[in-house]
Amino acid sequence: MIRLSILLFGIIATFVIAMFGLTIVPKFFIDEGVREPTYLTSFEITEGHRIFVREGCIYCHSKQVRPEGFGADFERGWGRASLPTDYRNLLPHNLGTMRTGPDLANIGARQPSRDWHYLNLYQPRAINEKSIMPPFPWLFEVYSERARPGRDGLSLPEQYRIPGMKVLPADEARYLATYLISLVQESTGTE
Ligand code: HEC
Repeated sequence: MIRLSILLFGIIATFVIAMFGLTIVPKFFIDEGVREPTYLTSFEITEGHRIFVREGCIYCHSKQVRPEGFGADFERGWGRASLPTDYRNLLPHNLGTMRTGPDLANIGARQPSRDWHYLNLYQPRAINEKSIMPPFPWLFEVYSERARPGRDGLSLPEQYRIPGMKVLPADEARYLATYLISLVQESTGTE
């Protein structure tokens, strides 16, 4: 009988300690000095996030940076350690676990060029010959050279050009690029 009560006590204590450690204690640290993130503040960014989820970018790119001293994230220049508030208003949170490609939590700071993102999305091998990132050409539209005067097509290397045609970003590519550029980590206010 005594043994049974020890066992029960042990089970309950495990749950209570886990609840304190994993939910109650962290709650007090969650808001420490962090400003409201700029995530999803416009139609374009919200749409871009939806496309990011739909296209499965998260299967190769995480959006969570580990603190200095835990792995090489800091040395790789991926930004400051992620904080719980970085994901406020973001549904699904999609932190990601796979890192076939670099972490994107701070990609907007690292790569703010819209044209660069278009090229990388249309054909990653136009930037890096050996890229294993898949192309996403369905986010773009192909027009004859003479159509849409005043709008230059993507500057693709010779082997990816379509003779007599130009490639322009469709709305979905524009939204996705806007979303990627918006991924700039907010300061923690303590730096
Ligand atoms: C099969 C894995 C895979 C998928 C899916 C994938 N990527 Fe990538 N991505 C990579 C790899 C690997 C790199 C590293 C450079 C390279 O090989 O092109 C990369 C590089 C990038 C970069 C540049 C990162 C940097 O730090 O310079 C961006 C931005 C990016 N990907 C965005 C996306 C977006 C947006 C999607 C979804 C539409 C996506 N990727 C889907 C594998 C992937």
